[in-house]
Amino acid sequence: MAKTEVKTSLLDNMVGVGDMVLLEPLSEDAFLENLKKRFDHNEIYTYIGSVVVSINPYRSLPIYTPEKVEEYRNRNFYELSPHIYALADEAYRSLRDQDKDQCILITGESGAGKTEASKLVMSYVAAVCGKGIEVNQVKEQLLQSNPVLEAFGNAKTVRNDNSSRFGKYMDIEFDFKGDPLGGVISNYLLEKSRVVRQPRGERNFHIFYQLLSGATEDLLRQLKLEKDFSKYNYLSLDCAQVNGVDDAANFRTVRNAMQIVGFMDDESQSVLEAVAAVLKLGNLEFKPEVRGNGVDESKIKDKNELKEICELIGLDQSVLERAFSFRTVEAKQEKVSTTLNVAQAYYARDALAKNLYSRLFSWLVYRINESIKAQIKVRKKVMGVLDIYGFEIFEDNSFEQFIINYCNEKLQQIFIELTLKEEQEEYIREGIEWTHIEYFNNAVICDLIENNTYGILAMLDEECLRPGTVTDETFLEKLNQVCATHQHFESRMSKSSRFLNDTTLPHNCFRIQHYAGKVMYCVEGFVDKNNDLLYRDLSQAMWKANNSLIKSIFPEGNPAKINLKRPPTAGSQFKSSVATLMRNLQTKNPNYIRCIKPNDKKAGHIFTEALVRHQIRYLGLLENVRVRRAGYAFRQLYEPCLERYKMLCKQTWPHWRGQARPGVEVLLNELGIPKEEYSYGRSKIFIRNPRTLFKLEDLRKQRLEDLATLIQKIYRGWKCRTQFLLMKKSQIVISAWFRRYAQQKKYQKTKSSAIVVQSYIRGWKARKTLRELKHQKRCEEAVTTIAAFWHGTQARRELKRLKEEARCKHAVAVIWAYWLGLKVRREYRKFFRANAGKKISTFIVQRIMQKYFLDMKKKLPSMSPTDRSWPPRSYLFLDDTHKELRRIFHLWRCKKYRDQFTEQKKLIYEEKLEASELFKDKKSSYPSSVGQRFDGDYMEIHTNPKFQKLSGSIEEKIIVADLVNKINRANGKGAVRIFLLTKNNFIVADAKSGQKKAVVLLNDIEKVSMSSQKDGFFAVHLKEGSAAGSKGDFLFSSDRLIEVATKLYRTAQSSTSQKINIEISDEFVVLFKQDKVCVKFIQGNQKNGNIPTCKRKNNRLLEVAVP
Ligand SMILES: Nc1ncnc2c1ncn2[C@@H]1O[C@H](COP(=O)(O)OP(=O)(O)OP(=O)(O)O)[C@@H](O)[C@H]1O
Ligand SMILES: [Mg+2]
Repeated sequence: MAKTEVKTSLLDNMVGVGDMVLLEPLSEDAFLENLKKRFDHNEIYTYIGSVVVSINPYRSLPIYTPEKVEEYRNRNFYELSPHIYALADEAYRSLRDQDKDQCILITGESGAGKTEASKLVMSYVAAVCGKGIEVNQVKEQLLQSNPVLEAFGNAKTVRNDNSSRFGKYMDIEFDFKGDPLGGVISNYLLEKSRVVRQPRGERNFHIFYQLLSGATEDLLRQLKLEKDFSKYNYLSLDCAQVNGVDDAANFRTVRNAMQIVGFMDDESQSVLEAVAAVLKLGNLEFKPEVRGNGVDESKIKDKNELKEICELIGLDQSVLERAFSFRTVEAKQEKVSTTLNVAQAYYARDALAKNLYSRLFSWLVYRINESIKAQIKVRKKVMGVLDIYGFEIFEDNSFEQFIINYCNEKLQQIFIELTLKEEQEEYIREGIEWTHIEYFNNAVICDLIENNTYGILAMLDEECLRPGTVTDETFLEKLNQVCATHQHFESRMSKSSRFLNDTTLPHNCFRIQHYAGKVMYCVEGFVDKNNDLLYRDLSQAMWKANNSLIKSIFPEGNPAKINLKRPPTAGSQFKSSVATLMRNLQTKNPNYIRCIKPNDKKAGHIFTEALVRHQIRYLGLLENVRVRRAGYAFRQLYEPCLERYKMLCKQTWPHWRGQARPGVEVLLNELGIPKEEYSYGRSKIFIRNPRTLFKLEDLRKQRLEDLATLIQKIYRGWKCRTQFLLMKKSQIVISAWFRRYAQQKKYQKTKSSAIVVQSYIRGWKARKTLRELKHQKRCEEAVTTIAAFWHGTQARRELKRLKEEARCKHAVAVIWAYWLGLKVRREYRKFFRANAGKKISTFIVQRIMQKYFLDMKKKLPSMSPTDRSWPPRSYLFLDDTHKELRRIFHLWRCKKYRDQFTEQKKLIYEEKLEASELFKDKKSSYPSSVGQRFDGDYMEIHTNPKFQKLSGSIEEKIIVADLVNKINRANGKGAVRIFLLTKNNFIVADAKSGQKKAVVLLNDIEKVSMSSQKDGFFAVHLKEGSAAGSKGDFLFSSDRLIEVATKLYRTAQSSTSQKINIEISDEFVVLFKQDKVCVKFIQGNQKNGNIPTCKRKNNRLLEVAVP
């Protein structure tokens, strides 16, 4: 998204003042009032120069969204309203762009929001720095180290539900591009006493509760734990549950975070085992036992608990039991073992638990460092974030508070030093004269605590190392001797009687006047806690554990590495680590976040003035402002300054062409601001008094209003003008359009009128022309008609005349002919008087005949004998000739037709003619035979081997060979027979065998009878007395009756030269042997289709029914 280029300033839309430096008048009340006003408007951040003051809102505000991150990204510090992101951005950018290592120092009392602030800074940096798979993994590991450390190092206290009980300094390392490479975490003094005892209303470290609430049944069984908090002595019960905190869910978060950071599964398991062991140590109880020699001894009450602890850490039970019963003191090769009484045993137990836990915590930090350390060795830029416990003033303050407050004292000192130094550096950089500033320097308090010869810590160490009886009281006495005169040290017992009568100061306490207020410390436990004693027997026992993690955190338990030197005391250890930290911080560019807690109730919206006033006081915020304001309250680069106020002077408004500084000079001169009120630095203008700035701001505001009015005026004028011009333009456009439209309409109208007029004229003209043309045409037509009529008349006249002429000519010719004839006849009459007429008529007749024949020749009909046509006669007198000629022509053409026939064909026609003569109009079956060929031989007897014998016996030519039915006279049924006709005989033979049944000479045939109907029956009557006739007549039926009968007739005629009589009658008598049987043909039923049936009616009658 494109960045908005709108230049804004911290001074815009301010609630109160965003930068306390501008507070006027500068007083504590005004300071407080300003903070309150801003807090009430949800403005929790306020600047003191470059320092961010943050008030814990105790509720989530919508000011940490990704959009906010974008808003503050790459913007100048004073450009937007105060925010922790502005500080983070400034630090990150000067790290990345100017190569300056940075540190972010977050201070404030417990619950003021330091840890949250540190997380906000880290998340902002993570959001704006580079991206990529590896970079994201590094970021994720760095961010996820927080939940792990908070689970083990934070606890609910009365001040804060998530109070950090350790100091944390984290170096985040970047490459030259500003991408994170890794990090290093340092931890400071875990409040380990919390492990064994918690003040009322507070809890042990979170991890114990998280483990018991969040672990699965299975895990709890492995760790030999129970869910119930009340089972564990180390867990206070009055506030085991914290409102709004889900321990079980947090446990899952922690485990997940451990995984992301890179803990192996077995490492996580070992860590939890160590935690479980600590919890269970608290349940170990001891009872006294008196030995024979009168020495008190303690014994573990319930061995089961001990057994489970040893199982957890993998240790021989007896080893631990012994470590709780004896204490071995070694001195110069001598070992002395003494028994522990019950109190000592409890002391040893708690010491072990505390040590185990605090070493486990240190190991965790070490392990996280292993994971997050930069993998590549390049030059790194570093951003350190310090989140350390805040200044603590409790009712009972002990060694821990002393240490914590010492640390805060050191931080305050470095804050003063660095702020002053920075301020001074800026003055030098800008070439402005440095004026001395009065402020409280707490170096004297630091000296009281850390001085190597008379400092409180040195004396504590001295007491701890001193042989003889050492108690907390002897330590206090020593303090009283050495520090009595120190102005920040107070004690009842000190020789100076200043506090002798101060009853608020108990005898076993001393009081230090810290920069943040007076704190009374009770000396009880100082020596012990400083010694931080763990019996060597216990550390040796721990070293023997199989659990490698536990073994590794007790290296001094290794007998091979016995070190008789005392380990450094807690105080001196802390002092040196704080010194290292301070040295580290001094090399970096500091950025401060001063956290303020608005109320004691951990509640939003409540602003307890007294509480905040106290914090303002001890944090030295007012002094901070004073330091900032000592010389010049406000400073700004020339460019933004000129940009902001250039409208106040004619020369610089609206544009100043040239360098910014002369512009600012012109501007300030023009405004008449007294010379002593400002100073010109090299790049910045320094303003001494906030009042001057506010005056400038007021002028600006006023001017802005004027400018706004001016702009408004110009804008309105411009708008009206534009509007007017637009309207004018529009009006012109509209009128132009309208005129055009009107003209168009007018034109259209004129045009259409013209067209109408034109059309009328044209019509009129056309009609006129048409009329003329029509007239012309009519005239032409009339002329034509008249001409036609005239020509017709002429033609008719001519025709008439020609006809008349022709008639006349003809008449002339006729008359002339008659006249000539007459003349001729008159002339020749005397010569041909007798024959002339005859000759002439003959001549004429001859001529006519000649013409007739010639005409006939042309009109002759076809040569087909069947053609019946004949041309009509032309002369009546030739009627007979005409008929005769027709007859002759027909005969002639028949002859011609016949002459084409072959001999064979002739025979066939002869035969057909014979049949016609015999049967035409006599036998009904005749017409159907006309179209049939008369082949005669239908059986091919000679070629058929079946009839070899039959054919062999016949020498003559076979004329007919066909199958016929021979009718049995007994029943009228037919038997199939071969009918053979030769030249002289006819032979009847068996159809199957070919055996001859009868041979009849043709000569013996008397006649043949048959009906007139369509049947094929025929009877062959034999002559009486002939050889064949003895057997009687034959009655046959044949399909080829006409052919058979004709051939029989013709053969008989040619061979015997006598005609066989063929009788056609529907009733004839047949002689069978001696019996005469009448064969009668009747019109029969159609039962058998078209086949005639023969039935014997009685002895004398055979009835043939013909269909
Ligand atoms: N910016 C913030 N917005 C919302 N809530 C906040 C903010 N800062 C702090 N808090 C609330 O205040 C509580 C205490 O803050 P935090 O733990 O940071 O205090 P602290 O200064 O680190 O205290 P201690 O010194 O005890 O560790 C947080 O748990 C959170 O509920
Ligand atoms: Mg904290």
